[in-house]
Amino acid sequence: MAPRQMIRFLLNDRPVTLSALGANDMLLDHLRLDQRLRGTKEGCAEGDCGACTVLVGRLGADGLVYEPVNACIRPLVTVDTCHVVTVEHLRGKDGGLHPVQRAMVDHHGSQCGFCTPGFVMALYALWMETPHPTEAQTERALQGNLCRCTGYAPIIRAALSMGDHGTTDPLHEERAKVAETLRGWQDSTRVEVSKGDSRAILPASIDDLAAILTQHPDARIVAGATDVGLWVTKFLRDLPLAVFISHLDDLRAITETDDALHIGALASYESARAPLLAHFPHLSRYWDRIAGWQVRAMGTLGGNIANGSPIGDTPPPFIALGARLVLRQGDARREIPLEAFFLDYGKQDRRAGEFVETIILPKPAPNTLHAAYKLSKRRDEDISAVAAGFALTVTDGTITEARLAFGGMAATPKRAAHTEAALTAQPFTLDTLQNAAKALPQDFTPLSDMRASADYRMKAAQNLLTRFWHETQGTTATLEDAI
Ligand SMILES: Cc1cc2nc3c(=O)[nH]c(=O)nc-3n(C[C@H](O)[C@H](O)[C@H](O)COP(=O)(O)OP(=O)(O)OC[C@H]3O[C@@H](n4cnc5c(N)ncnc54)[C@H](O)[C@@H]3O)c2cc1C
Ligand code: FES
Ligand code: FES
Repeated sequence: MAPRQMIRFLLNDRPVTLSALGANDMLLDHLRLDQRLRGTKEGCAEGDCGACTVLVGRLGADGLVYEPVNACIRPLVTVDTCHVVTVEHLRGKDGGLHPVQRAMVDHHGSQCGFCTPGFVMALYALWMETPHPTEAQTERALQGNLCRCTGYAPIIRAALSMGDHGTTDPLHEERAKVAETLRGWQDSTRVEVSKGDSRAILPASIDDLAAILTQHPDARIVAGATDVGLWVTKFLRDLPLAVFISHLDDLRAITETDDALHIGALASYESARAPLLAHFPHLSRYWDRIAGWQVRAMGTLGGNIANGSPIGDTPPPFIALGARLVLRQGDARREIPLEAFFLDYGKQDRRAGEFVETIILPKPAPNTLHAAYKLSKRRDEDISAVAAGFALTVTDGTITEARLAFGGMAATPKRAAHTEAALTAQPFTLDTLQNAAKALPQDFTPLSDMRASADYRMKAAQNLLTRFWHETQGTTATLEDAI
């Protein structure tokens, strides 16, 4: 079948068809400049402030699901067959203020107002799921929104009361019709569009993706675009040819066998959260420290690994858990330990035309103690200075296997081989952990940068072993609750 040479999506209540667009075009520019929908603001243009938050509804295996996204770094081409909802579409059942807007007014949740549309949209996404949220749920939902005026307390009070103003709205009533429209547009066809020198492809399926990459091994894969989007908006890089994959539902699936979790590379932080925490509850607090809701909805685990960053948050705990990576090139697949993927700074074991297909996480072995730690300057929406994942198997009081992996300590995420050796076959005691921590300088020579000094990184990483001991013994409150 010939590729479709246009995208179509629903913008609030209007169908939009576009054919002249390239890989560099972002949803926010289209909304503000082409559609003149200026309610959605541009604050940072890098996914940090949430002023550009809109909802994107996609019809997938779980029905029509709406998620908040940062329009500034959301490639326009990826809203093909989606429903984009901007702040202009919000209204209450009587056509007046929406319950979220009413609550924001009543609680004085807006001052200069620049951040307000973004907050309203994030709260709208929360209200859709949980009209009466707790304070903790509200704080989690708003991690990706910055306000420089209100001090947040009025906004949180608004969130806590929004459900009192109503729990349905016109969009609830339109949902079946929206789903029907989107279903009618889903044609499982490859989409190819271009503008100037920039060309964007949406593969029809995973097999089609494999075929495209075999034909164009230099094409840039774009998954959630939470890294690649910034190359465009901040570094003004052109994407001459990009293959956008975020719509490939089969690559997002998470399946379970007796002994492992198989996570499709496109699983987002949000979609992976429940299945992951069901098996690895120690990741709960760690997971909520990754970015904010909008980035967690867009960003994928495959992208976090494939970008090869030394400070990506998933590799350290996943390496500690013994994760394996399935890479696919054409019809050929190979499986490698996750740690083997990271060769050097900016260099991964990914061959031309190859893509990350699956992350395999073995289910926890009995007698294994786990921990995952993220140290950063801010608690919310910050990149790690040091990240760590620990898995210690203790049999009859003796450490029989130790897997420790760190991020932020070297040019790649990396296991602490000397420290692991110092732990293995030793009694599981505080002395053992603290003695082993002395081996950490043999494993790592961290750098000083804007996030932390080399000394801080080393000392903090060593101290995590002490913290691990106290946490496993229940002799300390978790520090993370306090920062
Ligand atoms: C505001 C903000 C906050 C952030 N906070 C955090 C944080 O707290 N912790 C953290 O770790 N990261 C954070 N990030 C970084 C980013 O969200 C993650 O790295 C994310 O997981 C990247 O996934 P993606 O799908 O968006 O990747 P993309 O941007 O789409 O791609 C990233 C790279 O991976 C490649 N790629 C993507 N998928 C595949 C695949 N399946 N196979 C082969 N190559 C592939 C792309 O070609 C590209 O080189 C943040 C980003 C932003 C904007
Ligand atoms: S403009 Fe700040 S997150 Fe998009
Ligand atoms: S009200 Fe001014 S930035 Fe939030």
